[in-house]
Amino acid sequence: MSSPDQPHISVLLRPLINAVAPVSGVWLDGTFGAGGYSRALLEAGADKVIGVDRDPLAFEMAAPWAHEYGDRLELVEGTFSRLDEYGSGLAGVVLDLGVSSMQLDLAERGFSFMRDGPLDMRMSQSGPSAADLVNTAEEVDLAEIIYLYGEERASRRIARAIVNARPIETTLQLARIVESCLPRPKPGQSHPATRTFQALRIAVNDEYGELAEGLMAAERALAPGGQLAVVTFHSVEDRMVKRFLQARSGSTGNANRYAPELHRETPAFELKSRKAIGPDDQELAENPRSRSAKLRVAVRTDAPSGEVERSALGMPLRKGEK
Ligand SMILES: C[S@@+](CC[C@H](N)C(=O)[O-])C[C@H]1O[C@@H](n2cnc3c(N)ncnc32)[C@H](O)[C@@H]1O
Repeated sequence: MSSPDQPHISVLLRPLINAVAPVSGVWLDGTFGAGGYSRALLEAGADKVIGVDRDPLAFEMAAPWAHEYGDRLELVEGTFSRLDEYGSGLAGVVLDLGVSSMQLDLAERGFSFMRDGPLDMRMSQSGPSAADLVNTAEEVDLAEIIYLYGEERASRRIARAIVNARPIETTLQLARIVESCLPRPKPGQSHPATRTFQALRIAVNDEYGELAEGLMAAERALAPGGQLAVVTFHSVEDRMVKRFLQARSGSTGNANRYAPELHRETPAFELKSRKAIGPDDQELAENPRSRSAKLRVAVRTDAPSGEVERSALGMPLRKGEK
């Protein structure tokens, strides 16, 4: 395996630690990555951090330093949708969604249309890859994925071109096919393959399903007074987190004042602030990748845990999915 060019730079790290301070007790970091959040939580006073990641690479990269924290740092290979199986009565849960720059930078992981590599995109390095998806899915299903998860208007054209070009084995091969379907980007516009790559990555890793389940698992795993902090990178994820927290904190409001009063559960969360926290000017200057990052923090009450339907979270649903 080659090694990543640069270590991952943690996004919104200072605002996160400021928002949850003072830190104590057992925290679960559901997206361990390069361990930036876990280390900061340990340094800020957490008694222990359970660091979860679905990518074994995260733990290989942490091997040189993880032992410094002894049994204050426990590493678990798993998905955050099941985080309540890895800890309970937690003082905090943090999720920092998406891929790490270590994953993006390694051509062989197949996440990037800028680097030629196998069309893989699996965060966990197991299960069906993006190549499996593009080479076996029906054209209508590919179009649906690209439209729904990539918000790509040319999804049908791209799906047809993919099916005609099969088999597709590499990232650059796919990037060229997508490019051939779209007008040349104007200066400042993103690469034409951005949306299609994002869509395939979301589908391969079931990212929205993971988020919906992860939020509910966090609600079950947090002790009363425990904090949930989530960092998102695009609008669909932020919408899901916002709607989940609104629904579970009883702050959705009644849309129609003549409608009968809805049965209200006791709120399971209190919002720390209504507005999401973004990067400050210094972070924007130092790390342009932080531009679209948003942090939301809420505090668990002692109400029983519950569930929110995926449709109520504004999660893009595929045909037949509930
Ligand atoms: C943006 S990075 C996290 C970076 C980390 N906060 C830091 O400061 O180093 C996201 C990480 O979450 C992992 N990940 C994404 N979705 C996951 C899921 N559903 N379950 C477990 N890990 C996940 C990815 O493999 C990646 O390593």
